[in-house]
Amino acid sequence: MYYFCATNLSHRADMKQILEVTPESRVVLGRVAKQLSPLLPDRRVIAIVDAAVDALYPSLCAPFERIVVEGGEPTKSLASLERVYSSLIELSADRECFLLGVGGGVVTDLTGFVASTYMRGVPFGFVSTTLLGAVDASVGGKNGVNVGGYKNMVGTFSHPQFVVCDVELFATLPEREFRAGLAEVVKSAVIADARLFELLESHTFEELRSDVALLGEVVERSLRIKADVVRADFREGGLRRVLNLGHTLAHAIEKSTHRYNHGEAVAIGLCAISKAAVVQGVLAAADAERIEGLLCKLGFETSLPLPAALLAEAAVKDKKRAGDVLHVIFPTAIGAVCDRTVSVDAIAQIFESI
Ligand SMILES: NC(=O)c1ccc[n+]([C@@H]2O[C@H](COP(=O)([O-])OP(=O)(O)OC[C@H]3O[C@@H](n4cnc5c(N)ncnc54)[C@H](O)[C@@H]3O)[C@@H](O)[C@H]2O)c1
Ligand SMILES: [Zn+2]
Repeated sequence: MYYFCATNLSHRADMKQILEVTPESRVVLGRVAKQLSPLLPDRRVIAIVDAAVDALYPSLCAPFERIVVEGGEPTKSLASLERVYSSLIELSADRECFLLGVGGGVVTDLTGFVASTYMRGVPFGFVSTTLLGAVDASVGGKNGVNVGGYKNMVGTFSHPQFVVCDVELFATLPEREFRAGLAEVVKSAVIADARLFELLESHTFEELRSDVALLGEVVERSLRIKADVVRADFREGGLRRVLNLGHTLAHAIEKSTHRYNHGEAVAIGLCAISKAAVVQGVLAAADAERIEGLLCKLGFETSLPLPAALLAEAAVKDKKRAGDVLHVIFPTAIGAVCDRTVSVDAIAQIFESI
């Protein structure tokens, strides 16, 4: 069973909060207008910026040369990768430049990959503008693009020098995108932070969306969990798998329905895996009810959109090639999880049991 303790958070007089993922890679929580410029190196900065963010916050990237890309999953493609490389060449960008990704998970995943491959690698940093990006995608050093409908098929492990998370930028997020980020927050709470779970239980969706101080605490707590896990296991050798809680089924739901965004699918996956954990005898039924209750309160659907057998089949489809067992993360309490090796054949039984 895994338990975590939070580390490395320093509070400063100006309320800037810094979290070290590695000594070379830090997350800074605070207003971007104030925090960004001291973090930038004395180099030529080229921003790769989400078009919606650039339109909503024109002054954010105004000081930099800019390559504007659309937000949304289709941008994580080989075609946009080529467009961004070509723009960099047109700008005569050399190895002395610094790339700044400004946007949600799509832009930071793309920028991280571009930066770690353009001219064999240039330094980079991020401004995270979505809740999901802040608590999950921008931190941890994984980047990449999709190939032929397969998610994240090419990518590298490479940390940004910094990530700036400014929760006030999330005010303009469409409600559905904000909610999607909350699913990853609930996931983090179930993995490692019972207090965060209680905090979420004691506030409404509207409060979480509008109370900047509350949102700051929620983001900070989620980030600490991600940073602790990544620090312990950068290349996903073991512990990092805990971050996949609820994701086996979530990926199957996303792939099989095309109706849910990632966060919505994660919410359904979290509920399903909690119920499966009760059947497996590792989680109390009352805890599974709390998890489902919280997700319902936040406005998520929680029941399976397709029969469990169909989803289980989709979930193991690619795994059969890799061997006949896979790791499944089960919650064992609010704030603790375990990693079980399960045979591919047993997966269907587990999900059908709920
Ligand atoms: N690298 C990792 O470890 C990791 C982890 C989790 C998720 N991801 C990836 O992250 C991606 C999803 O990220 P996402 O949910 O941030 O999606 P996204 O980047 O597509 O952003 C969602 C939408 O919000 C818009 N947007 C961004 N910031 C905004 C703002 N401040 N105000 C208004 N609109 C804004 C974007 O234009 C887009 O339409 C997926 O591709 C996923 O694979 C990566
Ligand atoms: Zn996820």
